[in-house]
Amino acid sequence: MQIVICKTKEEACRKAADVISAAIRGNPRIVLGLATGSTPVGMYRELIADCKAGKVDFSTVRSFNLDEYQGLPPEHDQSYRYFMNANLFDHVNIDKANTRVPPGQAADTAAACAQYEADIKAAGGIDIQVLGIGSDGHIAFNEPGSSLVSRTRLVALTQQTIRDNARFFASEADVPRYAVSMGVGTIMEARKIIMLCFGANKAAAVKAAVEGGISQFCPASALQMHPDAMVFLDEEAAADLALKDFYRSQSCAL
Ligand code: F6R
Repeated sequence: MQIVICKTKEEACRKAADVISAAIRGNPRIVLGLATGSTPVGMYRELIADCKAGKVDFSTVRSFNLDEYQGLPPEHDQSYRYFMNANLFDHVNIDKANTRVPPGQAADTAAACAQYEADIKAAGGIDIQVLGIGSDGHIAFNEPGSSLVSRTRLVALTQQTIRDNARFFASEADVPRYAVSMGVGTIMEARKIIMLCFGANKAAAVKAAVEGGISQFCPASALQMHPDAMVFLDEEAAADLALKDFYRSQSCAL
């Protein structure tokens, strides 16, 4: 894991966007794995600015999202398809036919999940996977207790995640109880991983993911075994890390 501690989340978003923009320039047919939630929005804003400035071209980029609520139609303003359109796809020159979100409305969810995995493979696999982290250490909707070799599947949300996400819905009762999520095993097959973690409420999860033991109790800790995982943190999210000086000395080149 390469730990990059930044003064602000804005600086972290810019640095992460630089990595992605450069990767797109190097491989115009890149396959991106994308996340929703509040964390990556600033980075998406930077990518939009790069695209508008002519620094990056999304026209042949392909993408697969991490997760989608079960039962929400794409036009629902809390569906992750809606989120991706509003926060990235509508503002860059990507072909939406090349953007995918997991099947939240399939008649046969298990078959549709197997197809999603097959489609990722057929696209050549994910080149860069963007992640946020849950306050309980989840990545995508792989909650604590999820197998570290899990694949795309239907998952039940924990009470903690339902509470965390209730702020986006009219009430907690409106938060879907299930989602379709890439598995930890799916995520670990990405060639490169960029995880973004911001704010004091992520500090404990970051500490467990980066410096705790590898355990399905903290699904993000699996990234310790990934050969090319970068973790971009602001000072607040990095607050509990014991080896901050070491990480700073390792990332001074960025
Ligand atoms: C979203 C996702 C989730 C979020 C996590 C953090 O696609 O996979 O794991 O990354 O819940 O959410 P925010 O960024 O809203 O704090």
